[in-house]
Amino acid sequence: MENGVFVGGGGEGHGVKQWLRLDYANRHGLIAGATGTGKTVTLQILAEGFSAQGVPIFMSDVKGDLSGLAKPGSADFKLHQPFSDRARTIGFDDYAYTAFPVTFWDLFGTQGHPIRTTVAEMGPLLISRLLELSEAQEGILNIAFRVADEEGLPLLDLKDLQSMLVWLGENRESVSLRYGNIAVQSVGAIQRRLLVLENQGGAKFFGEPALDLRDLMRTDANGQGQINILAADKLMGAPRLYATFLLWLLSELFEDLPEVGDPEKPKLVFFFDEAHLLFDDAPKALVDKVEQVARLIRSKGVGVYFITQNPDDIPEDILGQLGNRVQHALRAFTARDRKALRMAAETYRENPTFDTEVAIREVGVGEAVTSMLERKGIPGMVERTLIRPPSSQLGPISPAERGGIVGASDLGDKYTRTLDRQSAFEILAQRTKEAAEAAENAELNEADLDAAMREYTAGRRYSGTRVGRSTAQPTRKTRKEDSFGEAMAKVVVKELKGTTGRRIVRGLLGGLFKAR
Ligand SMILES: Nc1ncnc2c1ncn2[C@@H]1O[C@H](COP(=O)(O)OP(=O)(O)OP(=O)(O)O)[C@@H](O)[C@H]1O
Ligand SMILES: [Mg+2]
Repeated sequence: MENGVFVGGGGEGHGVKQWLRLDYANRHGLIAGATGTGKTVTLQILAEGFSAQGVPIFMSDVKGDLSGLAKPGSADFKLHQPFSDRARTIGFDDYAYTAFPVTFWDLFGTQGHPIRTTVAEMGPLLISRLLELSEAQEGILNIAFRVADEEGLPLLDLKDLQSMLVWLGENRESVSLRYGNIAVQSVGAIQRRLLVLENQGGAKFFGEPALDLRDLMRTDANGQGQINILAADKLMGAPRLYATFLLWLLSELFEDLPEVGDPEKPKLVFFFDEAHLLFDDAPKALVDKVEQVARLIRSKGVGVYFITQNPDDIPEDILGQLGNRVQHALRAFTARDRKALRMAAETYRENPTFDTEVAIREVGVGEAVTSMLERKGIPGMVERTLIRPPSSQLGPISPAERGGIVGASDLGDKYTRTLDRQSAFEILAQRTKEAAEAAENAELNEADLDAAMREYTAGRRYSGTRVGRSTAQPTRKTRKEDSFGEAMAKVVVKELKGTTGRRIVRGLLGGLFKAR
């Protein structure tokens, strides 16, 4: 078949070739199965097939075992014989070892090109999800975004958002008049969640240069689709960040790509591993959004393939949209397992030669119950398919090999250096500094007044400035240091000589730590 990805052999003795049609590859897919049943290898061979047909791919590498795509398999490998036997069984006559063009990405910037976005681009809905905010807190985050917009304060990185929240806390009375009550506890709670995200390494992910989606949709000089691999092993330590990031990427693709209807082949195939993380106690609004993005992104030529252990991890509305399916074995230990198994079986078009439910229970490792879309997008009859062996290396390449590929990539220059444009943090810091300087000047002028009087005047004078905070309050004695606070203090305090200005700065920064 010219226009398909070879998946494996089904039918009698596994001799009937099974294909995933390129013209229906944008109708999404599912790879499911219990642990150790062959999901990752299926993902690998699908990526190989798409790449060979000029379709770029994006995938996350949860266990760090997909980098082998960049290197050919080897006749010295311990599974060379089983791979060759399998190829023969399924009539894969031109089975050969080859490498594929891979681009490595890493949110933390160590195992690949850094991948970043801005706070503003991610938007309040996803950031609320990321920070696991309550509804009330989400409301406040929405206000922060609105006010930042109105005040012309770009929200690019996490310190911008931090500054914005400090500002909101300080100005909550005037802001509340327009937007309703802003509880200081809620602002504090959001700030604390931000610190958690920062500790998980999230600060690296927000900023510029932001990812240019076109860099995920490239083909190499030979017309092979680029395989973009996101390092997700460390990222799995922050599952919320992982799931939100991938969802953000999907919605970004959806919003940016032009409508193409049903293309001959997809513009991009997106594999979403550990997809259950996206839906674990997700609010309905979010599930609806995923459902909507999945439904509409199809006509932008993007196919989304969910990978998960059990298909019932995926909400029904979304599952119903996954046209191309590779179901590896499911276990049937418990009553719940059996129910899930029965339900999984029921979603397939039956094959008269075997019982789907039994097949899903019995298929061996690297074997699966498959159903691909056929002409007119009709689901194909279910088959017991022996999945083809990989052409690239099974298992990871060495860190040195990986480093070599990252180093040689022409994307390095573009993404390695961070930009730090003038944004909310700098602008608010500047305002604070101006207020503090004004305070200092006033302090010097008042030098001959006695101390108490000076304190009083200074306090009065600043109550109406844009930072909107009186300095007459006592100085806070204890203040925890953190990167944000230090950074803010550095920008502001270094040029101040007197005490009053410093006090203002401390007061403002105090807002950040107050609610701890
Ligand atoms: N299509 C295949 N051809 C040849 N061998 C395979 C195939 N699929 C799986 N195998 C063998 O089975 C092993 C386990 O497969 P794989 O790593 O894909 O399982 P998995 O479902 O991803 O497991 P986990 O849930 O632990 O990630 C592979 O290392 C390989 O030896
Ligand atoms: Mg796996």
